Amino acid sequence: MKIGTPKEIFEGERRVAMTPESAAALQKLGHECVVETGAGAEAGFADGDYKAAGVEVVKTAAALWKAADVVAKVRVPDATEMKRLREDQTLISFFSPVADEDKMQAAAKKGATVIAMEMIPRISRAQKMDALSSMANIAGYRAVIEAGNNFGRFFTGQITAAGKVPPAKVLVVGAGVAGLAAIGTSTSLGAITYAFDVRPEVAEQVESMGAEFVYLDFEEEQQDGASSGGYASVSSPEFREAQLAKFRELAPEMDIVITTALIPNREAPELWTEDMVKAMKPGSVIVDLAAEKGGNCKLTVADEKIVTDNGVTIIGYTDFPSRMATQSSSLYATNIRHLMADLTPEKDGVINHDMEDDVIRGATIAHAQEVTFPPPPPKVAAIAAAPKKDAPKELTAEEKKAKELADFKAQTKQQVTLLAIGGALVLLAGLYTPASFMQHFIVFVLSVFIGFQVIWGVAHSLHTPLMAVTNAISSIVILGALIQIGSSSGVITFLSIFAVFMAAINIFGGFLVTRRMLAMFQKS
Ligand code: NAI
Repeated sequence: MKIGTPKEIFEGERRVAMTPESAAALQKLGHECVVETGAGAEAGFADGDYKAAGVEVVKTAAALWKAADVVAKVRVPDATEMKRLREDQTLISFFSPVADEDKMQAAAKKGATVIAMEMIPRISRAQKMDALSSMANIAGYRAVIEAGNNFGRFFTGQITAAGKVPPAKVLVVGAGVAGLAAIGTSTSLGAITYAFDVRPEVAEQVESMGAEFVYLDFEEEQQDGASSGGYASVSSPEFREAQLAKFRELAPEMDIVITTALIPNREAPELWTEDMVKAMKPGSVIVDLAAEKGGNCKLTVADEKIVTDNGVTIIGYTDFPSRMATQSSSLYATNIRHLMADLTPEKDGVINHDMEDDVIRGATIAHAQEVTFPPPPPKVAAIAAAPKKDAPKELTAEEKKAKELADFKAQTKQQVTLLAIGGALVLLAGLYTPASFMQHFIVFVLSVFIGFQVIWGVAHSLHTPLMAVTNAISSIVILGALIQIGSSSGVITFLSIFAVFMAAINIFGGFLVTRRMLAMFQKS
């Protein structure tokens, strides 16, 4: 099949859906690739790069739509592109099926197949095709960079000869994909970062990234991310009040607020109210990633940067991924090529549009002259689902005592049996071997026992110091072996060489492991 990518015509859009690298991978699936001239220019990919990757470059958009069996693009097609879409052609693109229902109906009527990239279900297997996540990741990162660009101070705290600089305080509201990327960027720049989300299961992730999770003093049944496909659902009015009260308390302290709170197919909830903006210090910055869906802050103006009367900058850009077009094009093109791999299971350049496949079914909104939106819920649970653990049953004091006694009895019985077997074996060996052997044998048995006990009881986190000790022991072993190596007995010489060999493995292995561990802490 021929896969084609036109130049994006949406104003300001710099991304492209196919890169020379993704084209090479698509060709390995048996497909041919074609792009419109200049399609990748604004993302840093020249026509020459495509040609070098074996991609045909055509002069006009019309020629491209005519040549391609599958058209892969970024933005929802406009009216002209919709006219060009033809029967039996497949379109892979962002395509909001709710907002662009008319276009979806028209595509279905024509007999074209439409795969909407935002409809890829959030299940583990589909992560590599999840363009919403890859774009949100970039948006989260860029939001922090943009905030820093408009903030008059450092992120990290410093003590310099010229004075002490306090670290910036950043609050991230909504710890989804964009929020987590923002948290990661903000903590790595050295800011004190706080984060809030209605889904308590993300608290652990937030904390593992070095941020502090803002807890509410409120009892509400946990939202189960799994049942809603990994997304949040609407919270109760009481919960919202508790949340706003907490934000009001935090507002005067925060230097930067990044809001990313979203519930799919709804307007963004208003979470950063006017009075909170008023309570912020002059010079503070708000980046509202939800601007496109109405904003988490009412004062946000989509696609604009405004400064309020009290000196707070509010950024409502909706094109963060496009502002990092090279990176976002690479990730988006990779998402598309993974989707194409799913659509071409035999790698023979023939598309098998399998509507039984959860991912393909979920993302297809028009197929075989029918509108196939909304899709049925995916058969597998979403990624966010955390297994529910049953709480251990509480025992009464008497039950506890009885259990302890039974455990003690079983343990004693086991130890006595082992001792009896060990004693019998030593006695048996003593009957048939010389006294000098027994002396060494008993030392050997005891050292194995002590060594076993010592290592068995060590916690995983202490295995590194334990390894250092075993390396030290190796040096003792190697010394003993070197003293014995010149012995007149062939057996002793052999054993000494063997001991040197074994101890050397431990010593040099120790150096290698140390090198690898140090490399883990080095930033490449
Ligand atoms: P997501 O669905 O992964 O994350 C949204 C998070 O908000 C979820 O963790 C959810 O639990 C949380 N949330 C929902 N209601 C909340 C509430 N009342 N309080 C606190 N948290 C709440 O979404 P993703 O992919 O991270 O995107 C976040 C936002 O960024 C979306 O609005 C998306 O449209 C926007 N976005 C903006 C871009 C831009 O250029 N401005 C580019 C990409 C995404």
